[in-house]
This record gives sequence, C-alpha cells and structure tokens, in this order.
Amino acid sequence: MNDVLWTADELTEATGGTVTQPFAASGLSIDTRTLQPGDLFIALVGEGRDGHAFAAGALKQGAAGAMVHDEVSRSGPLLRVDDTLAGLTRLGGYARYRFGGKLVAVTGSVGKTTTKEMLRTALSAFGNTHAAVASYNNHWGVPLTLARTPRDAAFCVAEIGMNHAGEIAPLSRLARPHVAVVTTVAAAHIGYLGSIEAIADEKASIVQGLEPDGIAILPADSPQLPRLLAAASGSIVMTFGVDPSADVRLVHSEADADGSLIHVDILGHTASLRLNAPGQHMAMNALAALAAVAALGLDPARAIAALADFVPLAGRGLRRQIAIGRGTALLLDESYNGNGASMRAALDVLRLQPARRRIAVLGDMLELGDAGPAEHAGLADAVTASVDCLFTCGPLMRNLFDAVPDEIRGFHAVNAAALAPVVAKALGDGDTILVKGSLGSGMKRVIDAIQAAETSTHTTAGAG
Ligand SMILES: Nc1ncnc2c1ncn2[C@@H]1O[C@H](COP(=O)(O)OP(=O)(O)O)[C@@H](O)[C@H]1O
Ligand SMILES: [Mg+2]
Repeated sequence: MNDVLWTADELTEATGGTVTQPFAASGLSIDTRTLQPGDLFIALVGEGRDGHAFAAGALKQGAAGAMVHDEVSRSGPLLRVDDTLAGLTRLGGYARYRFGGKLVAVTGSVGKTTTKEMLRTALSAFGNTHAAVASYNNHWGVPLTLARTPRDAAFCVAEIGMNHAGEIAPLSRLARPHVAVVTTVAAAHIGYLGSIEAIADEKASIVQGLEPDGIAILPADSPQLPRLLAAASGSIVMTFGVDPSADVRLVHSEADADGSLIHVDILGHTASLRLNAPGQHMAMNALAALAAVAALGLDPARAIAALADFVPLAGRGLRRQIAIGRGTALLLDESYNGNGASMRAALDVLRLQPARRRIAVLGDMLELGDAGPAEHAGLADAVTASVDCLFTCGPLMRNLFDAVPDEIRGFHAVNAAALAPVVAKALGDGDTILVKGSLGSGMKRVIDAIQAAETSTHTTAGAG
C-alpha cells in the first residue's frame, strides 16, 4: 500500500464513525472515475447524485473502504457515519489539526485557482507542497483538500470560493490559514450578493479563520481596499499591487505576447521575474503569490526562480498553436470562467498577440442578475479595441454583439453548440482565437470543435 494517509483509528476518531472492519487509506476519493486503489471512497450526496450508488463499485475498484451514511450493497470495509459531508468536514478539521506545516488560503472574485497554482509552484521550491485540485473551493472542496494533505507536507494551499454570502468564513475557520490572500474584488456572482460592497465583505471574511499572528494579503489597487482593511483590522496586513503604498509593488512590467518581465519591490528589495503567462492580471496574481511567500518569511528570490516555470492552466489562459488547413492558428483557452474583470483581462492578452486576425468567441457571463445585460454591453469598448472579428452566443451576449461596430460582427448563435461548427469553419492560417465564457455557458464545446477540426486537418493531410 502507498503511504498511509489515514489509519483506521484516525478515521473513527476524526469522524466519530464506526468501521465494519479496520482498514487504512492511502488517499481519498469522491468520484469513482478518478479513484485510486487504496483510497477511502466518500459517498457524498449532491445535486441529483448520491455517492452511495457508487460505493460497491468503488470497493470493487480497489477502494480501501467506503464512508457511508446509508445502506449499500457492500463488498468491503465500511466507515459508517451520521452524514458523509459532516464526516468529510471532520476529516478536514482533524487533518488540519495534525498538520504541522504552513497553510495559505486564497480567495477573490477571479484569479484564485491561478494564484493557488502559482503558490504550488513557488512553495514547492521550499518543501513538500500540497494544494487543492482544480477549483475545489466550496463546502466539500475545502475539507477534501485539507483531508488529502500528506502527513509530511510542509505547505498546504487551499482555494476558498463562494457564490452566496456567509460561505467563506466557516471554510476559513476550518482551514485556519497562516496567510489569507484576497486576489481581487469584482462583480462575480453579483446576482446573488447584490453589490460589490457585499462581495468585498464576503471576500474579507476569510480573515476570520486566520491563525493568531496570521497575515492577510490584500489587493492595494482595489477600490474596495478600505473595506477590506476595515475587516482585517485585527490582523497583520500586507498589500500587493501597482499603488505606491503597496508592500509588494509592481514597479514596472514589459508585456509581450508570451508573457511579462515584471520588476517588483518586495518590502524594499527589488527583483525581476520573467512570467510565461501574458497579461497584467497574471502579473498581479504573481505578486499576490510573492506577498504570501514573503509573509511566510521565505526567500522571495527562490520563489521567483520557481515561478519562471509557471504556465497557465487549461481553460484559464492556456495558449496552444493549432493546425488549420496547411497553416496554424493560436488558441487562447479561457473557457473555464467569464465575468467582467476576467473578460477584460483576457481581451488585453488577445490584443498583445501578433495575428492576421484577432478573433473573440464569447459566451454568456452568468450569475450577474439584473446587472447582466449592462455588464455584457459594457464590454463593447474593450472588444472593439482588441478584436477584428467577434463571435458570440447566448441571450446575454446578444447585448454585446448588438453594441459593437458592424465591421467586427462575425456571427451570433443561441448557444455554444450552435456556434462551435461556425467558428471551427471560419478559422484561417495566422488567426488568434480567444474562447471565453462562464463554465455554465459550455464554451468548452467550441474548444472541442476547433480541436476536432484540427485532427481532421491532420488526418486529411496525412491521407494526402
Ligand atoms: N487577477 C485577475 N484579474 C482579472 N482576471 C483574472 C485574474 N486572474 C485570472 N483572471 C481571469 O479569470 C479566469 C479564471 O481564473 P482562475 O484563476 O481560474 O480564477 P478563479 O479560480 O477565481 O475562478 C482566467 O482565465 C483569467 O481570464
Ligand atoms: Mg477557481
């Protein structure tokens, strides 16, 4: 068996549950599609899905045991608890209690996952670092991240998200961070929160879980900084940004199509970092990560060296050359999320790219409530400044499509499925294509259609 992550005694002590027979687990899983032999399978109940239906399958797949609160047709050891989500949360709390390293928690309206991944890269230069998978940042994602933290990890990086008020503080109290980062405050989920001030308050509530002498890392350039500072008044605060008052300050940056050379001042020490992720927003995320490194008392120079290897993630800024006919085009995959702040950031990156044509393929930004139509139409200037040909889909993006000049209007479709084949056919050699929209808008379909067209190009070329 791999290293034991949870012994039978710890499992029962942590959850208050009982085991049908003693077993140890080398990992944790909530999804049989990614389950590893030796994992404890946790039968979570979610929207339209009950993990208890997969427990027997998980045991057959080699799970060490299954955590359940309902009857299952068993073929292996069970950990019976009163409620599996409560059980997972208790595992998370117990794991945090036994964790001897440093924990950094990251929240913000955008940039959480990217900054979390930058911190994984940077802190790995100092010791064994465990970080959340993808965007595991909610009521099950945060305890799962904690409960998966290896015993000997020196650092743990947790992402904490929300889409309703009151969600961040209890997760932060569970994570008990030594350092809590707020990347930005923007109009994401404003449909639920009601105002940017309410969003700022919710983001700031991350400080409620800070350990004694914990440090809050706040965005110096945010118009909401006074509100964030007020909420963090009981804690040590470090700020990052362009503002001259920032503790970790962006002195100057030279942006190009592939990245930026950024010159920073970290608590009075200057340094330069080559970031292979284009865009001012990426430079800001790197500054937030460096501020957290400095707050942990670590040498920023080693973190800066490690960050040179950082590349953006799929759906969050990954760039890829694709074969188109006998030529190539550059694909900017931003299909994982979309709100006003991230749209403008991605359009800035598109504008930096040398291209025959700069094409934007944009899907609805969701959870904006009544602000939706105006937020979409409000992107017209940024689009006009960066795009030669615009493709859009969804009822809200119609507002943008109708607001831009005729000459850059490509095509508008009801949804991503209808738009995908149109875009795949329209691309040509030398184009640069940005694909972006909220996850719920399904822009991944456009990425898949473009890649499918690429494969068929290859096969035909191969056959030629
Ligand atoms: N600091 C930032 N400011 C504005 N937009 C950003 C920032 N960081 C990332 N983005 C944009 O938001 C998208 C999602 O980034 P991600 O790190 O996944 O954010 P989150 O985890 O908060 O949803 C990226 O693809 C990028 O377009
Ligand atoms: Mg995320």
